[in-house]
Amino acid sequence: MKAVIANKYGGPEVLQIKEVEKPTPKQDEVLIKIHATSITAASTFMRLGTPYFGRLFIGLTKPKVKTPGTDLSGTIEAVGSEVTNFKVGDRVMAETGLNCGAYAEYICLPFHALMVHQPENVRPEEATGILDGACTALAFFTDQVKVKKGQKVLINGASGSIGTAAVQLAKHFGAEVTGVCSTINKALVKDLGADKVLDYSKNELDQSSEKFDVIFDTVGKLSYCDSRKHLSKRGVFLTPVLTFSTLLKMMIVSPFSKKKLKFAATGMRKEEQRMRDLIQIRDMLASNKLTTIIDRVYPLDQIQDAHAYVDTGRKRGNVILSMGA
Ligand SMILES: NC(=O)c1ccc[n+]([C@@H]2O[C@H](COP(=O)([O-])OP(=O)(O)OC[C@H]3O[C@@H](n4cnc5c(N)ncnc54)[C@H](OP(=O)(O)O)[C@@H]3O)[C@@H](O)[C@H]2O)c1
Repeated sequence: MKAVIANKYGGPEVLQIKEVEKPTPKQDEVLIKIHATSITAASTFMRLGTPYFGRLFIGLTKPKVKTPGTDLSGTIEAVGSEVTNFKVGDRVMAETGLNCGAYAEYICLPFHALMVHQPENVRPEEATGILDGACTALAFFTDQVKVKKGQKVLINGASGSIGTAAVQLAKHFGAEVTGVCSTINKALVKDLGADKVLDYSKNELDQSSEKFDVIFDTVGKLSYCDSRKHLSKRGVFLTPVLTFSTLLKMMIVSPFSKKKLKFAATGMRKEEQRMRDLIQIRDMLASNKLTTIIDRVYPLDQIQDAHAYVDTGRKRGNVILSMGA
């Protein structure tokens, strides 16, 4: 089978397509023919091996796992003798997390992996594309703050993968949502349900005197200290992007302020919490309460071009790698 192999950290050129042995499922595993996987901002950081402290988890000098790819949609082709919850022919959507392996034609996963049946009305690109952004946003909105009806929520980076999901989820929870994006993406963010849209290229947030209960800076472009003037009395600033400066402020500013700064590595939470989120996202997708925004779909042999595009930091929603099934 074909698989993407990265033997070292670096630019998109480190991603090479190789012919490797097709895996065989163990007794407690299923063999999945992968139809699509997504190319996330996080996967480009894993390819680069930056920030460097992340290497403690993914390999100090080179990637521990050679085949990247943290989510997938596919069809079960074989099951081990102990597997009872899935059968041959089932369509599934799954998160592989730090084990990666989804940039390939096939993968084996244990039956108890973060894997659920994929709804019939959902395409593979939509199924895999929703996972990273929506599961991350949902985790922030349920574990870090409880987004409730009537709260004012600002989503910065509202046109990205986490952002497009966060706008829809915050609306679903009944919040009044303001999205921040550039001019070109204003219509998209409005269509996703945002009540107001601010243009960062025109500094519209700086000019606003509105206060928010939650500011979710999905792309790590705002400063917590500067943003405190936009937070309500007990407002919370959320970020999924950990920098040294964020870490310092979490230790020396946030504890002494009523306006808190919170970071979470959502993929490192307990399996049961992640499964709960995966099921909720799958069900919302099936019932059209959530839409996957797909920017581009690349075939497997254009993996380097796909990564180069995601590296621009300008994708709208999600970029998909299709295995052409
Ligand atoms: N902590 C966690 O658990 C976790 C989980 C998943 C991801 N992450 C991290 O979260 C971050 C975001 O991921 P993502 O996949 O959502 O990113 P993404 O989809 O790659 O974000 C791209 C979007 O960001 C917008 N953008 C760029 N500069 C901006 C600015 N200055 N202000 C506002 N928007 C701007 C772009 O819009 P324009 O083209 O209009 O500029 C584009 O639509 C990444 O760093 C990723 O590694 C963390």
